[in-house]
Amino acid sequence: MESISIRLTQPTDLALIQAIEVASGQAFRALRMDAIADDPPLSLESLMVYHQAEHAWVAVPSKDADRPIAYILVYTVHNDGLEGWRCAFIHQVTVSPDYSRRGIGKALIEHVADWARKNGMRALDLTTFVDVPWNKPYYERLGFRVVDEEALLCNHAVGLRRVILCERQDSVLGNWPRVAMRKLLQD
Ligand SMILES: CC(C)(COP(=O)(O)OP(=O)(O)OC[C@H]1O[C@@H](n2cnc3c(N)ncnc32)[C@H](O)[C@@H]1OP(=O)(O)O)[C@@H](O)C(=O)NCCC(=O)NCCS
Repeated sequence: MESISIRLTQPTDLALIQAIEVASGQAFRALRMDAIADDPPLSLESLMVYHQAEHAWVAVPSKDADRPIAYILVYTVHNDGLEGWRCAFIHQVTVSPDYSRRGIGKALIEHVADWARKNGMRALDLTTFVDVPWNKPYYERLGFRVVDEEALLCNHAVGLRRVILCERQDSVLGNWPRVAMRKLLQD
């Protein structure tokens, strides 16, 4: 396998990240989820916010460090409104279809897990589609667990609950079942 490196984004990556999002979204058509495939990618302005916060990483071929083939975007959530349940929320992890199923998604998530641990965070959080094979089942294989409706009411899931409730009401995302998931980070 071609060796890859993971690095923080640079401004010239942002338009390439948009192209990766559009290309990878096409897989949803096979599941009759065309609205997801047709959803426009994150704007350059939104991507710039992640870039400037140093909360965005790309995977690049080691021999071609200016050509992102995958990316991950993260933000910090203070789940209990305090420092106790500070978690890294994975907003998007996306791999170019030309490079899928080679462990690059997993490597990006592990990279963010290391970063989150070093920054004193308790867990990785995300929201995802229940019935998409490369969503909930994929994350379960990587050690994430569903945060059920009762657990979502707990103090340590306040931020996560806010995201999942919003998404369930969204005119595009809300058309298919979505769940919140968490992976606790050990030292
Ligand atoms: C989810 C995603 C990031 C996984 O990245 P990846 O580098 O291909 O994944 P990995 O190589 O780490 O793991 C591969 C595993 O993912 C799952 N998977 C990936 N693509 C799949 C597909 N098309 N169908 C079914 N399972 C799939 C399988 O469990 C696979 O294991 P296997 O190859 O042994 O069957 C990638 O499929 C993607 O970008 N999808 C579109 C965007 C998306 O849905 N992102 C997640 C929600 S924000």
